[in-house]
Amino acid sequence: MRILIIGGGGREHAIAWSLAKSAKVEKLYCAPGNAGIAEVAECVPIAVDKFAELADFAKEAAVDLVFVGPDDPLAAGIVDVFEAAGIPAFGPDKKAAEIEGSKIFMKNLLRKYNIPTARYECFTDFEQALAYLRQQPLPVVVKADGLAAGKGVTVASTLEEAEEALRGMMLGGVFGASGSQVVIEEFMTGQEMSILAFVDGETVRAMVPAQDHKPIFDGDLGPNTGGMGTYSPLPHVDPSLVEEALRTIIEPTARAMVSEGRPFRGVLFAGLMLTPEGVKTVEFNARMGDPETQVVLPRLQTDLLDIVLAAMDGTLDGIEISWSDEAAVCVIAASEGYPGTYPKGRAISGLEEAKAAGALVFHAGTALQDGETVTSGGRVLGIVGRGRDIAEARSRAYEAAAAVSFEGMQLRSDIAMKALQAGK
Ligand code: AMP
Ligand code: GLY
Repeated sequence: MRILIIGGGGREHAIAWSLAKSAKVEKLYCAPGNAGIAEVAECVPIAVDKFAELADFAKEAAVDLVFVGPDDPLAAGIVDVFEAAGIPAFGPDKKAAEIEGSKIFMKNLLRKYNIPTARYECFTDFEQALAYLRQQPLPVVVKADGLAAGKGVTVASTLEEAEEALRGMMLGGVFGASGSQVVIEEFMTGQEMSILAFVDGETVRAMVPAQDHKPIFDGDLGPNTGGMGTYSPLPHVDPSLVEEALRTIIEPTARAMVSEGRPFRGVLFAGLMLTPEGVKTVEFNARMGDPETQVVLPRLQTDLLDIVLAAMDGTLDGIEISWSDEAAVCVIAASEGYPGTYPKGRAISGLEEAKAAGALVFHAGTALQDGETVTSGGRVLGIVGRGRDIAEARSRAYEAAAAVSFEGMQLRSDIAMKALQAGK
C-alpha cells in the first residue's frame, strides 16, 4: 500500500518507523516530515493545514491510505476533506475530533454519560467565571476550551495565579479564540496515566499504558510543555486500574460518541488520574500522544497497518494485538527557551553515536540545512532506550542522550523516576 502520514514531529517519526516495518507498505510519504522522518519516508513539503494541496498530492501519488498524526488538522476536519476526495484517512472526522478540540464538549459529554472526571463549570463570561473561581478551594484548574499546543491548562495554587490565567485567556487573548471560553475544574491528586486506544466506533482496543512528564523542569516544576518524556510499562500501577479505566471511562466514552451520532474512528487517547476515589478523566485527545507514541509503538509486535485497516473496516474486534514485555523510556531533548520562544537552526551532533548505542532517535523538530541536521522546533529529539525493565531502558536512554548535543539543549534528568521510586 501507498501511505501518506500527515505531520512532522516525533510522533509521526515513530508512526513512520513502525509502518515502515510492514511488508504491506510499498511506499511511505510524510507531509511535511522532518530530517529524521526522511530516513524512512519521502517527505513532501506541504503544511498540515493545506488540506486541498494535501488531497491533490495524495491523488497524484496514488495514495491508498492517509494516517493523520496531529490534533489541529483533525479538529479542523482534514479527515472529512480526504474522505470527500475519496481517499481513506485514519483518524476521527471533525465531529468526533471535537472530543479534543473543545474541552467544554468533552466535559459535558462525560457529565451526560456519568463518566468519571473532575467536577467543573464552563464559562463564556469573564465576570461570572471570576465570581465562581473566587469560591473554589485551592489548588484550582483553569483550562482554555480549545487547542493550545498543550499549554492551555493552568493548575493554580493561589487565587492570584488562577485569576491571572483566567484574565490572560478570557481578556488577554493569549490563546486566541481557544481561550474565549473556559473550564474551571476541581484539582485532582494522584499518579497520571495515558492510555491510547484504537477505536472503530464501538470496539476499543487499548495499547499498553504510558506516563508523560508535562512540566519542563525536574521534579515536575515549571510551566507545562507538550511532554518532556515518557515511559512504558508502568510497573508501579496495578493492572486492575488499566482495566477500570477501560471499563468505566474509555469504552463508555466510545459508546457515548456513537450515541451522540459522532462515532469515533482512530486513536482515542485518555489522560487519566489515579485518584484515591478511583480512575478519573483528565482529558481526551483524538490522536496518538506525543511523546507517548515513541514508547508505545516500539513495544507493538503486531503489524500497525493491519490494526489501522481493521479500525477503518470496523473489524477491530477480530484482530489479535500483541505487545512485547520490554520497557521503553523516551527522553526529550528540547530547545533553549522552550516552552517559550526558542531559536532554530542550531547544529545537532552525536545522532549516529546515540543510534549506535542502541537507542531509537525519533526526530521531533529537526531540519536539514546544507547537509547538516539542525534544530527547528521546541521539542527537537525523542531518545528512546529499551531494556528488560524501566531501570535498564532508562539508563540506555540517558546514555544515548549524553552522546547528543546542540547549543542550549534542555532535558529533564528524572524521566521514569516515579516508576523506580515506587520500588519496582
Ligand atoms: P491537559 O492538557 O488537560 O492534559 O492538562 C495538562 C496537565 O495539567 C495534566 O497532564 C495534569 O498534570 C494537569 N491537570 C489538568 N487537569 C487537572 C486536574 N483537574 N487536576 C489536577 N491536574 C490537572
Ligand atoms: N503528551 C501529551 C499529548 O500528546 O498531548
